[in-house]
Amino acid sequence: MKSIKEETNLEKKKILLRLDLNVPLRDGKITDATRIDKILPTLNFLISQNAKIIIISHVGRPKGKVVNDLSLRPICKDLEMKLSQNIKLLAKDIKEIVSNDLFQNDDEKVIMLENIRFYPEEEKNNQSFAKQLSTLADIYVNDAFSCSHRAHASIDQVTNFLPSFSGLQFDLEVNALKKITSEIKKPITCIIGGSKISTKINIIKNLIPKFDNIIIVGGMANNIIKYMGNNIGKSLQEENSDHIIKEILLLSETGNCKIIYPKDIVVGNNLKGDPQIKELNEVSSDEMILDIGPKTIKVISDIIDESNTILWNGPAGYFENQNFANGSIKIAEKIIENNKSNKIYSVAGGGDTVSLLNSLNSIDDFDFVSTAGGAFLEYLEGKELPGIKALN
Ligand code: 3PG
Repeated sequence: MKSIKEETNLEKKKILLRLDLNVPLRDGKITDATRIDKILPTLNFLISQNAKIIIISHVGRPKGKVVNDLSLRPICKDLEMKLSQNIKLLAKDIKEIVSNDLFQNDDEKVIMLENIRFYPEEEKNNQSFAKQLSTLADIYVNDAFSCSHRAHASIDQVTNFLPSFSGLQFDLEVNALKKITSEIKKPITCIIGGSKISTKINIIKNLIPKFDNIIIVGGMANNIIKYMGNNIGKSLQEENSDHIIKEILLLSETGNCKIIYPKDIVVGNNLKGDPQIKELNEVSSDEMILDIGPKTIKVISDIIDESNTILWNGPAGYFENQNFANGSIKIAEKIIENNKSNKIYSVAGGGDTVSLLNSLNSIDDFDFVSTAGGAFLEYLEGKELPGIKALN
């Protein structure tokens, strides 16, 4: 894997730069800009080298269709401000863009293409789509480590058509994770939460042999609570996951890894609702599980006290509503307390986790914070990520 930092002649070269600008948006406003801030050094480096930059990114999961609410426009505006640079957002169909549409005058240094996931070809890792993208540039740079677990056209196939490099943030994340995984100290506890159940549920069984405790909270825990015979009402869940849960629980018995899931929960009638603490068997059909309860928080705190390493990906509840943020806040506070007294080594990862830590002003209270969620977990699995493989 070669880093773009090592490339000396970038003068006037057109760089196709894959970024992960998948930041949380509410009513068209960015609620956490960490992922944008993290890639500024790469953009500033390329600008200082007089390169011409074509940014590609996705936001959300538009599933191959144009979804106006998932336009990159607000992100483009934020970047323009942060770079003090005009950035043209080119909404033209990527398959129809030709070189002449780009960099029409010397002052134009940065162009952004619209959400790459508006095109079904992206997630299909389509070869001709990747080839079309490659005709726009001289060099490809992947600075989207947090997307590199996806074998998508702008991550994987595109590297077949252009000299390809890693970006500065990509290097930083990979080097940090390499170091962490090679020097890791047991007992290791991994806390997995968040809402992307389908991305994470299959990863858990591969993590069992590596860790001493896996604490499952957030959306994924709902599936376990249901598997145990409880009603989970309107809660977020993944269909047909009973066989995976059975396998996870069986593997944990033979693999010396404890699987911990909520003992009690906090429910609401909807995402904006009021909180109510309940036992697992008390959820009614019109309620949703939106946080962990006090008994669960106590169990998790005790496990953190007994651990030497904590890896955390995904909040424990719907922290965007203060009523359901308590579990995630208490986990963060306990990790920070033990980190400050040098009892543990702590790593957190994922867009929502970063956003939570930012809202608590706590990013610097962890030993390392990765912008990656799914990619972070797959890296921990020991897999070679498609994005890393493609660069190699
Ligand atoms: C992330 O937020 O983890 C990345 O942007 C990847 O998003 P995805 O899970 O929708 O592929």
